[in-house]
Amino acid sequence: MAVDLLLGLQWGDEGKGKIVDVLTKDYDIIARFQGGPNAGHTLEFDGIKHVLHTIPSGIFHDNAMNIIGNGVVIDPVIFKRELQNLDKFEGLDYTSKILISRKAHLILPTHRLLDAASEASKGKAKIGSTLKGIGPTYMDKTGRNGIRVGDLELADWKDRYTALRTKHISMIDFYDAKIEYDLEELETEFFDAIKVLKKLTFIDSEEYLHQAQKSGKTILAEGAQGSLLDIDFGTYPYVTSSNTTAAGACTGLGIAPNKIGDVFGIFKAYTTRVGSGPFPTELFDNDGETMGRVGNEFGATTGRPRRCGWLDLVALKYAVQVNGVTQLMMMKGDVLSGFETLKVCTAYTYKGETIEHLPYNIEPENVDVVYKEMKGWKEDLTGMTEASQLPQALNEYIDFLEKELETPIKIVSVGPDRTQTIMR
Ligand code: GDP
Ligand code: IMO
Ligand code: MG
Repeated sequence: MAVDLLLGLQWGDEGKGKIVDVLTKDYDIIARFQGGPNAGHTLEFDGIKHVLHTIPSGIFHDNAMNIIGNGVVIDPVIFKRELQNLDKFEGLDYTSKILISRKAHLILPTHRLLDAASEASKGKAKIGSTLKGIGPTYMDKTGRNGIRVGDLELADWKDRYTALRTKHISMIDFYDAKIEYDLEELETEFFDAIKVLKKLTFIDSEEYLHQAQKSGKTILAEGAQGSLLDIDFGTYPYVTSSNTTAAGACTGLGIAPNKIGDVFGIFKAYTTRVGSGPFPTELFDNDGETMGRVGNEFGATTGRPRRCGWLDLVALKYAVQVNGVTQLMMMKGDVLSGFETLKVCTAYTYKGETIEHLPYNIEPENVDVVYKEMKGWKEDLTGMTEASQLPQALNEYIDFLEKELETPIKIVSVGPDRTQTIMR
């Protein structure tokens, strides 16, 4: 069986958690392939809102196994807290429904401190990191110094931990910006959490997934962050430290490229970004304020307000191309209800020329946006359940996007709840 992928096409927070939850009934396995607790994936059902950071978004269904792949970085402390939050759900036997790759890397307390020291020393040029230790952990992975989940099964892992943590402390001292910390306290919390992590099942996930494919199991790979935060293809250096695009699912799970099936690309009907970095269609007026307020645009991990702006088709086309998206899903259309007119960025003016591809540099001083204006709709979409109920102006918006992106929009989401999902 081919493996389907679900990825964010913008700067994250497109609604991946909600849609993975909606699609899980059709899959035997949900597998996260990259990122770590910088992610915040929100699910809503039965009046309950739930945010996941490391655990795949299939966890609330009985039919699916949830795999944390080798490409993910795990903070045991945050993972323990996530498990504790799941205790609220009576009858949810999560320990038997989560499998963790031995090759996934661990975020150590000193990785988080290094993240903080690095950001503090950058001043105005800071990335706006979630400060979860993501960058330093992936640096240790590619630098071949990291500690992996499988190491916890070895007798000498604590010696390796001590050596790495001692090196990290001298690196923290190297930064100009001085940060305060109590390592003893952080380590107590860390080693407690390691005990909890060790109660779960560790697997060679590439082998598990290979056998699952051979035996006809259906697999959905869940991405974190978004394509424009990809370490290679995003708005570098204002990106995260993993490949968030489709190729990341191959390296983050051990899935061969010729085994990829559908690529579901998910985007908001407008654009948001949290953290620093260029955002050509960003709004600083009432329209942006309305999107943020109606869309409740606050980070699920850090609570920071998200920057808001119109849909950027130049960036979206780029993401569709890089990922090979086969089906699109448009989220939060309900948030745009009530706008008299909507704007969609169809091109950039770059060095005096009109271009329709994403250039090397999209800083405001290099790029101006060209907008197409479209008619808005007044209807409240949040109670709609059928495509036939969608207002004419919204259908025109969808038709225009499908034509420009040369890809069908198969799901239109009209609210945060599981049930507020319209199939087309
Ligand atoms: P993720 O990181 O891609 O999983 O997305 P987040 O959970 O960080 O952010 C998406 C936010 O939008 C969450 O608060 C969701 O509950 C909410 N959401 C998802 N889909 C919709 C929708 O169609 N309409 C509205 N109004 N909210 C939505
Ligand atoms: P989900 O999976 C939105 C952003 C941060 C920062 C940059 C680098 O919920 O969509 P990092 O902590 O990775 O060093 O931060 O990336 N960022 C996200 N923005 N959604 C996310 O995840 C994000 N994960 C990281 O705000 O700008
Ligand atoms: Mg999120």
